Amino acid sequence: MYILGIETSCDETAASVSCNGSILSNVVATQIVHSPYGGVVPELASRMHERSIVSVTHQAIHQANIQKNDITAISFTQGPGLLGSLLVGTCFAKGFAQALHIPLIAVDHMKAHIFAHYIDAPAPEYPFLCLTVSGGHTQIVLVNSFTDIKVIGKTLDDAVGEAFDKAAKIMDIPYPGGPLIDKYAQSGDKNRYRFPIAHIPDYDYSFSGVKTALLYFLRDNTATNADFIKNNIHDICASYQHTLIQTLLLKLKKASKDLGINRIAIAGGVAANSYLRAQLLICANEHWEIFIPKLEYCTDNAAMIAHTGYMMYLNNQFADLKTVAKAVM
Ligand code: KG4
Ligand code: ZN
Repeated sequence: MYILGIETSCDETAASVSCNGSILSNVVATQIVHSPYGGVVPELASRMHERSIVSVTHQAIHQANIQKNDITAISFTQGPGLLGSLLVGTCFAKGFAQALHIPLIAVDHMKAHIFAHYIDAPAPEYPFLCLTVSGGHTQIVLVNSFTDIKVIGKTLDDAVGEAFDKAAKIMDIPYPGGPLIDKYAQSGDKNRYRFPIAHIPDYDYSFSGVKTALLYFLRDNTATNADFIKNNIHDICASYQHTLIQTLLLKLKKASKDLGINRIAIAGGVAANSYLRAQLLICANEHWEIFIPKLEYCTDNAAMIAHTGYMMYLNNQFADLKTVAKAVM
């Protein structure tokens, strides 16, 4: 069974082909057009998707060494994401399904981030907790089965990826800032500066305060030393990143203890963060069984859409041609 997966929720145009659950190709075209703006410009993103989707899909089919008539079903990201971007993938997938008379499968992007863990063994057994951390979401998800998943904690304001990207913008680090903050932090002192951790009830998060604290901290220090950021970039990034990751782990540890679940997975773009990955491995030495996806399955990709599509196909979860893109799922 060949599934073609299409992903266009934000600023990556991606296509992937899977065969009976194994990934044969995984093509991602990242849009660099947003870089000068310090964030994704929605109108530019949808135009770039329109421009790239045919060639990206063509490459994915070609690299899988199949013909388009071999494809059994097409899965696509229905949401959440930027509506204009989602529309491109949704319309393309509907047209493809109609032309080839094959089933259509509408995939939830956040669910796909979680089920990216099932692409390669060893996958977590149910139940497990998944910390899903991306540019738009920060969630603790209780995964009881493929069809029974509950968001038990979420951010009340900024996502943690946004806290990385906005901090980078303040420091004039190009978008997306997360990977560069991660890189600078590797040779910095995480204990040099202190930033606040928001104390929010239950398993929820808040990241807007820490970002504002960073803004004021930099404003005060650059007032007396114009080169403060340049001279201390490594320590600032390490200290700020340490605060973000400690915040994530505090609630994850609370949820794990309260629910008695020690199987812990991470997913989404921020799951690529080397400090988060290292901190989790320390927790694994204590009592957690940790599941960390390959880097290419953390940031946005279509392999996770093809694979979740495959799992949905096995569950008979199909969409019809009236299906629409949804900015919020
Ligand atoms: O899942 P993703 O690719 O797209 C969304 O669905 O949002 O996540 C993108 C986010 C961005 O905020 C980016 O800065 C962050 O993931 N990110 C990282 C790292 N790699 C990507 N954040 C911290 N450290 C990284 N190494
Ligand atoms: Zn994502």
